[in-house]
Amino acid sequence: MRVAVFSTKPYTSQFLSAANKEFGHELAFFEPRLTEQTAALAGEFPVVCPFVHDVLNAAVLRLLQAGGVRLIALRCAGFNHVDLSATHQLGMTVMHVPAYSPYAVAEHTVGLMMALNRKLHRAYNRVRDGNFDLDGLLGFDMHGCTAGIVGTGKIGALVVRILHGFGMKILVHDPNQNPDVVALGAKYVPLSELYAESDVITLHCPLVPGTRHLIDAQALAQMKDGVMLVNTSRGALVDTQAVIDALKSAKLGFMALDVYEEEEGLFFENLSGQVLRDDVFARLLTFPNVIITAHQGFFTRTAMENIARTTLQNIRDFEEGRAITNVITLERVRPVAAAVKAP
Ligand code: NAI
Repeated sequence: MRVAVFSTKPYTSQFLSAANKEFGHELAFFEPRLTEQTAALAGEFPVVCPFVHDVLNAAVLRLLQAGGVRLIALRCAGFNHVDLSATHQLGMTVMHVPAYSPYAVAEHTVGLMMALNRKLHRAYNRVRDGNFDLDGLLGFDMHGCTAGIVGTGKIGALVVRILHGFGMKILVHDPNQNPDVVALGAKYVPLSELYAESDVITLHCPLVPGTRHLIDAQALAQMKDGVMLVNTSRGALVDTQAVIDALKSAKLGFMALDVYEEEEGLFFENLSGQVLRDDVFARLLTFPNVIITAHQGFFTRTAMENIARTTLQNIRDFEEGRAITNVITLERVRPVAAAVKAP
């Protein structure tokens, strides 16, 4: 099929083109993000292939549909940026890549914990500057500490497995219990208990109305002083102003983010020659106990190969009218969206 690929980076075309040798779709790569202004680029294409920061609101979807687009083939797992009511009304199909390498995100999550704990980001700069002083680099043994994992799906369960290997006590919270993590000795508890008992808290649940600002001032107040918070899921799970206040008061002792609630237009771009206009983000960058990576949790060779292959297979399945497992329907999403912010 003819596919308009938006938000193309060199690595996008590299992996999609390599995988496409097996599929033979006609891929057109466009660098701009999909927006109302750029939607016209998809004219004459039955398929668009957007990424996480492309705009898929009702206005853009109407433009795409008018131009002949029938399939939105997301090359990512998350679909919180797609107006599914609009795609439903417009008769468009939305497909995604539900899993490509949960290991990639789980390993990055634990990497961030280790870097924060042992202050590797500071040590690296110090040693390169000829400063071999250890003062200020004191860490703690993860072994024996308590980890709180919110969301025990594919990624969260792997984080549980890795942290279990460190000898941590594991508390978990998820409306759907996963027997694999119970088998590892993890204990399902209410969020309030997870907050109160954990030394390290990491988020692996989706962004839905019930989880927006899950970590707000009220949640932070229930946590241990000096707790470590890691978010590699979706930025809006965390109320950024609330965590800034908690960092200032030392309630939060460490924080790592791979996602940020206002990351569109920021992450994935090289803005190094420009003035940073987001004052909230700029404030986050001033804390020595904060590490931010720009949504790179998924970014491993294995994951990129899997994303490319599944995206192209989805398009082939759609073309051939086969039973489609990776379709996102309103019916599939509603039960999750209804999940309320649990106590
Ligand atoms: P998954 O669907 O396998 O697991 C999500 C889990 O969250 C499910 O077990 C679900 O029951 C649970 N959940 C739903 N509502 C909850 C709530 N209110 N409280 C606690 N748990 C809740 O998803 P997967 O693959 O593990 O991904 C997790 C998140 O990671 C995704 O939602 C996505 O936002 C993020 N992600 C980040 C990437 C990155 O590059 N940083 C890449 C891929 C995913």
